[in-house]
Amino acid sequence: MTKLSVNINKIATLRNARGGNNPDLLEFAKNIELYGAQGITVHPRPDERHVKYADVYDLKSVVKTEFNIEGNPNDKFVKMVLDVKPTQVTLVPDAVNDITSSSGWDTIKNESFLTEIVTEFKRNNIRTSIFLNPDLKFLENLNKIGTDRVELYTEDYAVSYKKGNNLSIQPYMECADVLNQLNIGVNAGHDLSLDNILFFKQNIHNLLEVSIGHALITESLYLGLESVIKSYLRKLA
Ligand code: PXP
Repeated sequence: MTKLSVNINKIATLRNARGGNNPDLLEFAKNIELYGAQGITVHPRPDERHVKYADVYDLKSVVKTEFNIEGNPNDKFVKMVLDVKPTQVTLVPDAVNDITSSSGWDTIKNESFLTEIVTEFKRNNIRTSIFLNPDLKFLENLNKIGTDRVELYTEDYAVSYKKGNNLSIQPYMECADVLNQLNIGVNAGHDLSLDNILFFKQNIHNLLEVSIGHALITESLYLGLESVIKSYLRKLA
């Protein structure tokens, strides 16, 4: 089974657009769990334009499934993760002004930094995952770094799959096989959707978890719109 961890950044973005607390992030997290998702993911960024650091602290007592905090491990992020002690921390090398994550780690250049930070989180019993492009060269030193899991960055797969290129799954399959041999868990995320998730899942052995935000919230709007419009029309009739 592959666990679904729902990234709730988009809910926070919508809330932040108006100030106030609508939609209520904590209620969404509770409902997402109620409907069966096995995890909640947040990705606080330094400018707090989506999920705020305070949200992450508030979610600590609300999330009953797996809590996954993603982000670039600057000092503030590391302190927050050590305070909150989520199930999993996913390390992402995103730059401050990136609209969204756009690349995985270069594990060769960042080997000592990643080793240090992974060791610190593991000492605090927090499962670690690092965000990687599907490139075999970045897997070679993972046992040295000591990460429990890898999150494969799936944007390339999603873009190619949409154009009808099924072969784009190949590097992900190869990386997953190597990770399975190394006994490192395989997660995946970015641009996964109802359209492309099944083919991905069917081809990746032991896919432990996917984290999905943008498409899942967009699909929820599409699928929920008719019912809401009809509810308004009933009141206005
Ligand atoms: N994984 C990482 C590391 C991310 O940065 C994001 C986006 O915040 C996701 C997964 C989820 O991507 P999407 O919103 O496209 O589902």
